[in-house]
Amino acid sequence: MLFGFVALACLLSLSEVLATSVPKNTAPTFPIPESEQRNWSPYSPYFPLAEYKAPPAGCQINQVNIIQRHGARFPTSGATTRIKAGLTKLQGVQNFTDAKFNFIKSFKYDLGNSDLVPFGAAQSFDAGQEAFARYSKLVSKNNLPFIRADGSDRVVDSATNWTAGFASASHNTVQPKLNLILPQTGNDTLEDNMCPAAGDSDPQVNAWLAVAFPSITARLNAAAPSVNLTDTDAFNLVSLCAFLTVSKEKKSDFCTLFEGIPGSFEAFAYGGDLDKFYGTGYGQELGPVQGVGYVNELIARLTNSAVRDNTQTNRTLDASPVTFPLNKTFYADFSHDNLMVAVFSAMGLFRQPAPLSTSVPNPWRTWRTSSLVPFSGRMVVERLSCFGTTKVRVLVQDQVQPLEFCGGDRNGLCTLAKFVESQTFARSDGAGDFEKCFATSA
Ligand SMILES: *[C@@H]1O[C@H](CO)[C@@H](O)[C@H](O)[C@H]1NC(C)=O
Ligand SMILES: *[C@@H]1O[C@H](CO)[C@@H](O)[C@H](O)[C@H]1NC(C)=O
Ligand SMILES: *[C@@H]1O[C@H](CO)[C@@H](O)[C@H](O)[C@H]1NC(C)=O
Ligand SMILES: *[C@@H]1O[C@H](CO)[C@@H](O)[C@H](O)[C@H]1NC(C)=O
Ligand SMILES: *[C@@H]1O[C@H](CO)[C@@H](O)[C@H](O)[C@H]1NC(C)=O
Ligand SMILES: *[C@@H]1O[C@H](CO)[C@@H](O)[C@H](O)[C@H]1NC(C)=O
Repeated sequence: MLFGFVALACLLSLSEVLATSVPKNTAPTFPIPESEQRNWSPYSPYFPLAEYKAPPAGCQINQVNIIQRHGARFPTSGATTRIKAGLTKLQGVQNFTDAKFNFIKSFKYDLGNSDLVPFGAAQSFDAGQEAFARYSKLVSKNNLPFIRADGSDRVVDSATNWTAGFASASHNTVQPKLNLILPQTGNDTLEDNMCPAAGDSDPQVNAWLAVAFPSITARLNAAAPSVNLTDTDAFNLVSLCAFLTVSKEKKSDFCTLFEGIPGSFEAFAYGGDLDKFYGTGYGQELGPVQGVGYVNELIARLTNSAVRDNTQTNRTLDASPVTFPLNKTFYADFSHDNLMVAVFSAMGLFRQPAPLSTSVPNPWRTWRTSSLVPFSGRMVVERLSCFGTTKVRVLVQDQVQPLEFCGGDRNGLCTLAKFVESQTFARSDGAGDFEKCFATSA
């Protein structure tokens, strides 16, 4: 843990000697193949999915809008309870029949709860450096990015580490600050907590666990006789590999253990895909509507016009030029995976030809949680002027999205007018879905 803080602190104090505009990565990489790390699903570290491409000739970016997930964190309290359920069973075993499990006897669970880990702070710092390097023309001392964060500590810490990275990359000539924290108790477009009637993904995830996990669970139970781990226990134990590795910045023995059980990481990853798809994605009737408030704010920024929204926005905040300035060139918002999945689904990104199967993964699906919302994952909406026409393009983990819903060309560009026109779901406040969020069932 100390190492991360020291590395970050050194970099900050040395910022003036960083002579090049190419950001230096402070986040460590782990000696684990990227293919395995991507199977950590929502606990995958950020990976670019493509090399960033400058816009085509004749187009200049004149505004950028970033929405970014917090960096790597400790397990939430719910996840901690679920992990400990399986771990406690395993730690009751005296003699494993397989020596690869012996490390568990002396293993001590000592992770924190929900907060950003030093690696997650470094990821956010790196992202801030990269944003400055890429978009420095859009900002200046007197034209700072406007920055908001959802109110949870890990999101606020991600935002401030990002601003520190941004300032550092600019040699402290551009020093943005976190302008606004949206309290989670109020109307908050950066958190998915305003739709009480929305369902969850448990039925679909459990159906998949019953299909994919019995053989994995059997392998664990064979090594730990009389323990009786469930498929849910096994699923949660796989997540320990990711949580321990990002927290300790060192490959966890749990990773090695599951590497010895073929298919376990793949089964875990698909469980994560289903979790997001049926949580706030296309598979959840009241999922996409939870992203509408943010999309309407995005449209307001892109079009330099007042927010029109009757869903999650705080109308008081969004009506004020202090808390919702228009005509800015750079906006950054810090948020959570489930909210970002709702935003993607409200916009029409990553639409699937059919709902994800709970028994047979489609190998060609573009819905992969590690691609959509890894730790520190981000969507960037660039507004451009192309030969006098205002256009937009959308990048997710640096990959240009096709925007087929607004006539995206081969460079992924739509006219701003067509993009706005395509956002009928958001512009109609969720086509009746927002009201359903508060419907009481008989
Ligand atoms: C575990 O192994 C040790 C040494 O082989 C043995 O003495 C002990 O009885 C075993 N305990 C159980 C619960 O099987
Ligand atoms: C970065 O995040 C850590 C939490 O991991 C926090 O303690 C620290 O204050 C943040 N640093 C900055 C510069 O905001
Ligand atoms: C909206 O924002 C104002 C100003 O910060 C705050 O006083 C109020 O509590 C918020 N209301 C809701 C419902 O979020
Ligand atoms: C585990 O399950 C088996 C078979 O269902 C049962 O015989 C055994 O008592 C169970 N053990 C524990 C520790 O619950
Ligand atoms: C918060 O959202 C609700 C639901 O759309 C709305 O009725 C209320 O007026 C909003 N409050 C503020 C301060 O915007
Ligand atoms: C934003 O810019 C446009 C065009 O430059 C201008 O017409 C409008 O008044 C500006 N709005 C604000 C809030 O400054």
